[in-house]
Amino acid sequence: MKFDLNNTVFNTISDILQETQQEAYLIGGYVRDIILKRPSKDVDIVIVGSGIELAKKTAKKLSNKIKVSYFKNFGTAMFNYKGIEYEFVGARKESYDRSSRKPIVENGTLQDDQNRRDLTINALGISLKKENFGQLIDPFNGLQDIDNKKICTPLDPDITFSDDPLRMMRAIRFASQLDFKIDEKTLSSIAKNKLRIKIISQERIIDELHKIVLSPVPSVGFQLLFDVGLLEIIFPELYALRGVETINGVSHKDNFLHTILVLDNISKKTDNLWLRWAAVFHDIGKPRSKKFKNNIWTFHAHDFIGKKMIPPIFRRMKLPMNEKMKYIQKLVLLHLRPIALSSSVVTDSAVRRLLFDAGNETDDLMTLCEADITSSKEYKVKKFLNNFAIVRQKLKEVEEKDSIRNWQPPIDGLEIMKILNLPPSRAVGEIKDAIKEAILDGKIENNYDAAYKFMMEMVEK
Ligand code: CTP
Repeated sequence: MKFDLNNTVFNTISDILQETQQEAYLIGGYVRDIILKRPSKDVDIVIVGSGIELAKKTAKKLSNKIKVSYFKNFGTAMFNYKGIEYEFVGARKESYDRSSRKPIVENGTLQDDQNRRDLTINALGISLKKENFGQLIDPFNGLQDIDNKKICTPLDPDITFSDDPLRMMRAIRFASQLDFKIDEKTLSSIAKNKLRIKIISQERIIDELHKIVLSPVPSVGFQLLFDVGLLEIIFPELYALRGVETINGVSHKDNFLHTILVLDNISKKTDNLWLRWAAVFHDIGKPRSKKFKNNIWTFHAHDFIGKKMIPPIFRRMKLPMNEKMKYIQKLVLLHLRPIALSSSVVTDSAVRRLLFDAGNETDDLMTLCEADITSSKEYKVKKFLNNFAIVRQKLKEVEEKDSIRNWQPPIDGLEIMKILNLPPSRAVGEIKDAIKEAILDGKIENNYDAAYKFMMEMVEK
């Protein structure tokens, strides 16, 4: 198979190879993505020889303005040309020191280089030599595996995964991103080697998890992580949601399956990584709150417990402990509130309260709640969705009337201190809260005069 490569950089490399009598190839993810017709960000080029030299020569020939950066230790070099990153590396023969992941690297042939790659679909090369420019070099039938939507390692999977255990996560991530099936031998090798994931840095693991969360149907990836035993190691709190318990013939649902279904549901509505993560976390507090009483299963306060569980999980998993975490905590804490609003006659004050508590996250919260409906009975799904449509309408009406999102009470703490001649104290906070509550409850109007009057009356009392 031959590709029609129309690219100034590739032509320039080809000219240089002619002069130096060397061989170089496009390799890895870039080739895979050409075949899959996926957009790709960067181009990897492997040369039998020095990657740094080839990068420098190519850049010089293209223009004298290109800056080449390189890492002598790794023998890699890269430059950016017209918004695309070109990375050059010498072909390598590589094996790993089993205790540390430190690779022992030697120069090698193209075949050596392809042998040491993670998956057959990522081991395809395209020649840049003049004689066979654009020719596909496919020693492991990667093209066929792409056609058959198959994930499989080039060598014995035990060797490939043991060399770099992150590849177990990559195999699952690609299965989830591309909707490919993992070959049986490869899959059982992941299950066998799962404990080696412990030598991989959390940063690399979380990168793969983000990619799974962002894939079109993320449950594919999470179910695979569960099946091979990796989930239990890297995310035990999510693993703990698994299973159905039955007492006196009364069962609860499998909260792991429910969670990944909610994630799939929300992924149809949003590409917001953090909103998708909120779906992953929304029921994380359930195992700790589970009780069986009066012949029913309850998960009281799982919203509150879930919120509390999030910071230590974020810390351990190297997720960002910043406003993204707070955003997820907020959605987890509030995810039951709209249901309460949908069940009975809703008062304006209850709606105002939700708007006040959810603020800018109100829409995302509603998206999460709608995704949280996972009944298999269609009439039930319709009924709940309809109820949420009513809640959304109510939220809109009350918001238009009262502008509660991002609202602050009309009298702030500083003013309270000034008017009442008080030092900073608990009393100031209590007065401020009382004003806020009175407005949210609809007892007084949302303006300065009403708040002032209310405050004075309260002080007199
Ligand atoms: N590779 C590998 N083992 C790894 C990581 C990468 O063998 N643990 C090889 C694969 O051949 C891969 C190439 O290096 O195609 C480039 O890696 P990278 O840029 O990380 O991934 P891509 O495959 O390009 O895919 P993506 O950009 O989606 O991560």
